[in-house]
Amino acid sequence: MFKINEFQQRRNQLLSKMGSGIAIIPTAPEAVRNRDSYYPYRFDSYFYYLTGFTEPESVLILIAGNTAKSESPRSILFCRDKDETREIWDGFRFGPGAAKIQFGFDETFSIQELDALMPDLMANQNQLFYSLGFDAAWDARIINWLNKVKDKSRTGVSAPEAVLDVRQLVDKQRLVKTPFELDLMRCSANIAAGAHNRAMQVTQVNKKEYEIEAEFLYEFYRNGAQAPAYKSIVAGGANACTLHYNGNNCVLNDGDLLLIDAGCELDGYASDITRTFPVNGKFSNIQSDLYEMVLQSQLAAIDAAKPGNHWNAPHEAALNILVQGFIDFKLCKGSIEEVLENGSYRQFYMHRTGHWLGLDVHDAGDYKNKAGDWATLEAGNTLTVEPGCYVRPADNVSEHFWNIGIRIEDDVLITATGNEVLTKNAVKNIADIEQLMQNSC
Ligand code: GLY
Ligand code: MN
Ligand code: MN
Repeated sequence: MFKINEFQQRRNQLLSKMGSGIAIIPTAPEAVRNRDSYYPYRFDSYFYYLTGFTEPESVLILIAGNTAKSESPRSILFCRDKDETREIWDGFRFGPGAAKIQFGFDETFSIQELDALMPDLMANQNQLFYSLGFDAAWDARIINWLNKVKDKSRTGVSAPEAVLDVRQLVDKQRLVKTPFELDLMRCSANIAAGAHNRAMQVTQVNKKEYEIEAEFLYEFYRNGAQAPAYKSIVAGGANACTLHYNGNNCVLNDGDLLLIDAGCELDGYASDITRTFPVNGKFSNIQSDLYEMVLQSQLAAIDAAKPGNHWNAPHEAALNILVQGFIDFKLCKGSIEEVLENGSYRQFYMHRTGHWLGLDVHDAGDYKNKAGDWATLEAGNTLTVEPGCYVRPADNVSEHFWNIGIRIEDDVLITATGNEVLTKNAVKNIADIEQLMQNSC
């Protein structure tokens, strides 16, 4: 359910961080897929975070107030007008009148008035909060408004002297999720977890990867998610060793593992889960040995995901277990310290152990502070924990390891005392996976 207060509070928090000046936050443009077909519309995450408004052609303006003008802080939305013809063809539009009431803005205007009103709104503001460099057309438009304000300097009007990155301010807010956001993230995680469990139940030898992908879409949509959070990776056998594989068009072979990295988006919030399981329902010895190593590394990483620890602690915990495993399986040579130092483990584990998660699957927020130190984990942070092991054919690797790719990925909330695994309902122990796969749908 839409909560006006939640979004007003987010705007107020940003307004107070701005102190003074004006912020301009446009939503994303619509994108043509081919000829006159469009990609499904997805709003900009920063704009949505501050408004909850999902229509294209909208811009949020925040005015923190200039002490000289004794303005009080206010939030303004520019959006599309009501338009009966367009609504018959494309669907409902709020229009400025209803948007003001339903979304709790101080003022709303037609998007048609943006160019005419912006120079006046920017006049005598001491600083402009806008994120330059992400959209050339918006950059040019805003510079044009700035020039119009500067043109009036002889009449005593001043233009903003500084352009500051508004996204950086919002990033800090987005890093700590509110209870409202966490409810959505739990729902998103649950839908995706259910889809992974179902995938284990419907997978059979000789099915195609895309048949399993279709099961994910079915589960996502029928449970209310609006979209996959990213293109699902459904990778049988050797395909699992291509990290961003998304062909999803191969046959699932007896004796192979199937790696699936898939999550959904619910009211903007992403889930991001990877599970790896045997196509025929039973892990071979070598598969279960490697799987158990990755699982233990993931559990150690999750243990390290707690308040006060730094961002890299889960990665370091996972790496210690993976590297010991690579040495035990004779994939790497030397001591743990040597393998960590010389980086030979990267042949089998070449990515990091997670990322922030939220409105974007790779969510906003810095991983290091200005001094170059890792960020400290705090309650309300949400991140993925996703170690893996990928063995491509190579002269220095025994053949029976070839083409095994394993990743196990969960979504984790840092709590005051430790963490909560949001995706805990997706089974991941070998015995649980094998048992679930016997109960096929
Ligand atoms: N699914 C994207 C990722 O795991 O980072
Ligand atoms: Mn991920
Ligand atoms: Mn993933």
